[in-house]
Amino acid sequence: MITQIEGNSVSLRRVQKSDAQAIYANIRNPQIARNTLIPFPYTLDSAEQFLTAATRNWRIGTGYHFAILSNDTGKLTGVLGYQNIHDPHKRAEIGYWLGKRFWGRGYMTEAVELGVKFGFEQLKLNRIEAKVFTHNIGSCRVLEKCGFSLDGQLRQSIKRGTRYYDELVYSLLKKDRW
Ligand SMILES: CC(C)(COP(=O)(O)OP(=O)(O)OC[C@H]1O[C@@H](n2cnc3c(N)ncnc32)[C@H](O)[C@@H]1OP(=O)(O)O)[C@@H](O)C(=O)NCCC(=O)NCCS
Repeated sequence: MITQIEGNSVSLRRVQKSDAQAIYANIRNPQIARNTLIPFPYTLDSAEQFLTAATRNWRIGTGYHFAILSNDTGKLTGVLGYQNIHDPHKRAEIGYWLGKRFWGRGYMTEAVELGVKFGFEQLKLNRIEAKVFTHNIGSCRVLEKCGFSLDGQLRQSIKRGTRYYDELVYSLLKKDRW
């Protein structure tokens, strides 16, 4: 299984324990928490726990998480990964976030493209899914630019505080690409 994928502006590299500080520095933003299931506030300990789980998951094949590195600086800008892997059905869910200061540079469109390549070629997936809050226009746009189709809407699938939120389900099939 490859652990590094090179792109033009960004590259993906399997997450490692030493990424904790960089993840902590980039992820602790209410605008990221608003659009994901990532908790806020987020602590350095949360990052370390995530990396411990991610390392184990990669080893046993239940999750694959990559650092998104800027090719200009080599530094971590965000994370992209696969979870909810259903091997019998050859499907998995992709998720991602980018530090606020890196938004709007086309980084995530390229990172998702690289992640999709990993999913189809390395994980041998047939279907890649993504779930997006209805208010997350940027993430919908990223998925649409990468060729994902909207499958439908999960009504009130997430509860936060006293409010329920709908999620949009997007998918990309192997046959959509080849
Ligand atoms: C959503 C997110 C991943 C977008 O990453 P990004 O690198 O800024 O996106 P890109 O620069 O590749 O932009 C792709 C397209 O989306 C559009 N876009 C990005 N953010 C947008 C926003 N907030 N509102 C409207 N359009 C947006 C861009 O204009 C671009 O479209 P275009 O090429 O037609 O102009 C990033 O904002 C993020 O990490 N947000 C917080 C975490 C999150 O939402 N994760 C996804 C959970 S499903």
